[in-house]
Amino acid sequence: MTRVLTGIQSSGTLHIGNYFGAIKPMLEMQEESDLFIFIANYHALSSLQDAKELEQKSLEAAIAFLSLGIDPNKSTFWLQSDVKEVLELYWILSGYTSMGLLERAHSYKDKVAKGITPNHALFSYPVLMAADILLYDAQIIPVGKDQIQHVEITRDIALRFNNAHGDIFTLPEFRVDKSVATVPGIDGAKMSKSYHNTIDIFSTQKQLKKQTGKIVTDSTPLEEPKEYANCNVYKLCKLFMNQEELAALQARYQRGGEGYGHFKLTLQEKIWEHFEQARERRAYYEAHMDEVRDILNEGAKKARAIAQPKMETVRKAVGIL
Ligand code: ADP
Ligand code: TRP
Repeated sequence: MTRVLTGIQSSGTLHIGNYFGAIKPMLEMQEESDLFIFIANYHALSSLQDAKELEQKSLEAAIAFLSLGIDPNKSTFWLQSDVKEVLELYWILSGYTSMGLLERAHSYKDKVAKGITPNHALFSYPVLMAADILLYDAQIIPVGKDQIQHVEITRDIALRFNNAHGDIFTLPEFRVDKSVATVPGIDGAKMSKSYHNTIDIFSTQKQLKKQTGKIVTDSTPLEEPKEYANCNVYKLCKLFMNQEELAALQARYQRGGEGYGHFKLTLQEKIWEHFEQARERRAYYEAHMDEVRDILNEGAKKARAIAQPKMETVRKAVGIL
């Protein structure tokens, strides 16, 4: 089975753009590949220096992904910092990474351009990411466009290492899922936490009502027929409805006599229903944190079973006794 690996950034509240753009495809991969998935809490240290917050966000992310369907019996799911080997590999790989390679990284340059004073962790972020990938001989790395270059950097580092020491690392390939459409936010632009236009997965009914209530529509009067194809409410409904439900919704738009408020209510109900099971599981895990820790520990054990022998090979290759 193909080994697919991905790291989860533990920052912020998950929205339905994240769900359809990243999480749902991940759940599908879980069924057909050997999925390795971890919470990238070491990476988070490059921008977060509040211990409580980091701990809380890491556990929240673990709970969210477990609740949404990551199955520890099918996938290897762990907390990055539970497998320390990754830091040793990170250092070893640093010796095979030129400064220029990192200086050319877009995500680093973008952050500096935005005025962030870079620390070394931000600069060397791609080397840790390379360690994440190479430690586990991952073959496929599903990424958003912004992360493609990081996988390319990983390949460069691996090639350099393999040239020096033989075929030790598997060269990973990135995969960008082109079939995934961009989910619009409540203002019609791409849904993103940085645009403050999200509809969140785990909100209360009241918050959900507030977020869906703010979806931007035109001002066709209630009694008149309405266009559905370009309507933001309809576009979001499409994600949650089957063909039959969609046809019924289209008919309601065309018939007139209902306002956008009615369609928003329909959307709100669909979203609420869609994440019902996830919400229940989340409430369960929140009340059983010890189980979450156990799941992560088990995952780390599985990950370590691969990381340890790999590191023995790597140490031997470079002359660390
Ligand atoms: P945000 O834009 O809210 O900061 P992230 O950059 O953290 O979201 O994205 C995490 C994952 O979710 C990425 O894989 C990204 O491609 C996906 N994603 C985020 N927003 C959307 C969206 N509006 N439509 C589709 N996928 C999205
Ligand atoms: N850098 C990734 C992101 O920002 C998270 C990540 C860390 C990752 N290590 C990884 C992704 C290894 C894939 C493989 O989303």
